[in-house]
Amino acid sequence: MTQAPVNVTVTGAAGQIGYALLFRIASGQLLGADTPVKLRLLEIPQAVKAAEGTAMELEDGAFPLLAGIDIFDDPKQAFAGANVALLVGARPRTKGMERGDLLEANGGIFKPQGEAINAGAAEDIKVLVVGNPANTNSLIARSNAPDVPIERFTAMTRLDHNRATAQLAKKLGVSVSDVKKMTIWGNHSATQYPDIFHAEVAGKNAAEAVNDQKWLEEDFIPTVAKRGAAIIEARGASSAASAASAAIDHVYTWVNGTAEGDWTSMAVPSDGSYGVPEGLISSFPVTCRGGKWEIVQGLEIDEFSRGKIDASVAELSEEREAVRKLGLV
Ligand code: NAD
Ligand code: LMR
Repeated sequence: MTQAPVNVTVTGAAGQIGYALLFRIASGQLLGADTPVKLRLLEIPQAVKAAEGTAMELEDGAFPLLAGIDIFDDPKQAFAGANVALLVGARPRTKGMERGDLLEANGGIFKPQGEAINAGAAEDIKVLVVGNPANTNSLIARSNAPDVPIERFTAMTRLDHNRATAQLAKKLGVSVSDVKKMTIWGNHSATQYPDIFHAEVAGKNAAEAVNDQKWLEEDFIPTVAKRGAAIIEARGASSAASAASAAIDHVYTWVNGTAEGDWTSMAVPSDGSYGVPEGLISSFPVTCRGGKWEIVQGLEIDEFSRGKIDASVAELSEEREAVRKLGLV
């Protein structure tokens, strides 16, 4: 080991994603093979016992990089000293629940968590929100952490990015590693826009390589955008291992950087780029260097893409309006 342990706080630790995620963090895949980690697990009181069971299994893994595990049911304690925070636990939509009810219920989770991050997280805190509605939950947490630089709050669209990459590779009969510069724009919801017009496949423009607008509009975009619902339909539960894998990818890339000649997709606070209203946590193409992300600038957006981006961003604006009315941001 070459450095002091990094404190990683994971909420919803006893849930499905938590179960797939924690072992990969402990094995060094979140931050790299030289970085020891201390896990700080947050759960609601009723699920603390289950989190203790997961912690026993983590101990049984004898992971050389795992420097300790603490379990909490109090956000203030769980986020104290956190360098990385993975906000996975959220209130799922249940039968008869309107979108406003869902946002309000999640406000009850992400407002106090934002306050706790503000009060006690480490100076270099990086936050990834996975729990849905992820973009707006991240906005709620950020709005309640006024002392933390806004760029430290992100939400996950890497799963959508990975899904889009896999679908495109399948269509063209190439390896996923041949696909570069995929972009997800907007919200992690069915309105998201997976954009292949700037993507490259083995060095060629992906849209030109596909050359099939019908496939793009009727197959690719809906398949990626509705993949979460299709997994729920097939598995009877929300995606878990692939979501955990994408969370690992998101943080690993943020910390260790994007490859030369490539970018990734992250939902980050908008600075107004590409006409996305400032402050919305919206997905963009980003590069990462030295632990910082930057929105890729100067991409040409045609009319088709403009309409799709605007539709998803409009949904984010509506969500922001709804949580404003609830006094959450
Ligand atoms: P799950 O129901 O299996 O687990 C959620 C866990 O969160 C539970 O153990 C619950 O006790 C805990 N929790 C609830 N409130 C909490 C709080 N206030 N503090 C700490 N923990 C709390 O759900 P899951 O399958 O692990 O999914 C978690 C979330 O991730 C869901 O909102 C899901 O929709 C979302 N998700 C997002 C993506 C994405 O790409 N952004 C992908 C898949 C799933
Ligand atoms: C996914 O994209 O798999 C999830 O966000 C779906 C969900 O609603 O949990």
